[in-house]
Amino acid sequence: MRYKALYGTHDILPDDSFKWQYLEDQVRKVFAPYNYKEIRVPTFEETELFSRSIGQDTDIVQKEMYTFTDQGKRSITLRPEGTAGVVRAYLQHSLGERSPLVKLFYFGSMFRQERPQKGRMREFHQFGIEAIGSNDPSLDAEQIEMAVRICEQLKITDFKLHLNSIGCPVCRPVHRDKLLNFMKDKVGKLCDDCKTRYMRNPLRMFDCKNEKCIEQLKDAPVMVDYLCEDCQTHYNQVKRYLEKLKIDYFEDKRLVRGLDYYTRTAFEIKSPLLGSQDTLLGGGRYDLLVEELGGKSTPAIGFAAGMERFMLVLEMQKKFDFEEKKLNLFIASLGVEAKAFAVKLIRDLRKKNITCDTDYLQRSLKAQMKEADRQKAEKVLIIGEEEIKKGKAILRDMQTGEQKQIELDRIDNVL
Ligand code: HAM
Repeated sequence: MRYKALYGTHDILPDDSFKWQYLEDQVRKVFAPYNYKEIRVPTFEETELFSRSIGQDTDIVQKEMYTFTDQGKRSITLRPEGTAGVVRAYLQHSLGERSPLVKLFYFGSMFRQERPQKGRMREFHQFGIEAIGSNDPSLDAEQIEMAVRICEQLKITDFKLHLNSIGCPVCRPVHRDKLLNFMKDKVGKLCDDCKTRYMRNPLRMFDCKNEKCIEQLKDAPVMVDYLCEDCQTHYNQVKRYLEKLKIDYFEDKRLVRGLDYYTRTAFEIKSPLLGSQDTLLGGGRYDLLVEELGGKSTPAIGFAAGMERFMLVLEMQKKFDFEEKKLNLFIASLGVEAKAFAVKLIRDLRKKNITCDTDYLQRSLKAQMKEADRQKAEKVLIIGEEEIKKGKAILRDMQTGEQKQIELDRIDNVL
């Protein structure tokens, strides 16, 4: 085969696309009652939008972005995530002037040049939400509840909600100093990435999967123990609301996120079924990002989920709770007149939302019956010149094998 989908990308073939539709439908069903509205933003943006919001020192910006110079010599990047584009659109269209709190959701492809493995792709799909304009901790609880509801709606049982607070610019420097001090003599034992993180972005060391780094960081001071009063109050309230909502959470003091825009609440839903790429969904507050991108100081929170990862869990748990759309009728025709009749009949039936198909390859009756069987048609209508003259034809029930004669002009009554 000369051409193949690029490493880390995949085709969603017809046998699977209905599962993706199912996932999307279920997610939309959960979003609707929470009054979030869909937004669709471009797949590529100017590079600076992403480097500024995600952070220069993150893995995404340092090594994973698909960046190119276009014909107009502009630096363009395929979006590695959805939040930056949504905030850009929020500012560009002054959405905040229409309503003080804007609640949005989105679906779309994202692009990161990572090393592909199970649950990790170079083009992958996310659904996500963003609520821009409030710092109320009940909004944090609302979004976490939505994330949990999605798992429940999809009948996923094996998941765990991790929760943390990663503070704000007031309390972070205090923790940063403590952490740097604690790690001072251990830097030499860290992996190369963590050596750089130590210098530029020390909190990110907690996200390293390298056994040696995990060992060195075992007793390191964690952010949540150094929260300022406001962050502590916010965190306590989030937890209080979650308890009120009876949502189980695990306080994961070492949870940090891979993007730099986060403040305060950070959360992830993980599933042990996924192996090393076990995060189904992640998000948190980003109270400083709107201002960072040129807007007024505006608190915000959101999350995004990896649809490929949800799909893996659903496949493993066999939790697709739907039936594939059936082919209601296959029309097998023989002869020129019958074909012309079939062309019109099939149009009329489709207008009535009956899913039907016919032969387009001039096949024999036997081959057409075989095709109907292959396509799992519920019924087959067999028409030839004689049938048209009489206005009657044979309708075969493919499941029972029963055949009966029906009036052609009343066919939709018997389907
Ligand atoms: P993120 O943690 O980078 O956050 O990605 C969210 C989810 O996308 C992950 O939990 C994972 O399920 C999925 N994901 C990430 N990278 C890949 C990949 N290479 N292959 C497959 N799935 C992947 C964000 O993207 C933030 N924008 C979330 C957010 C929204 N925070 C606030 N609002």
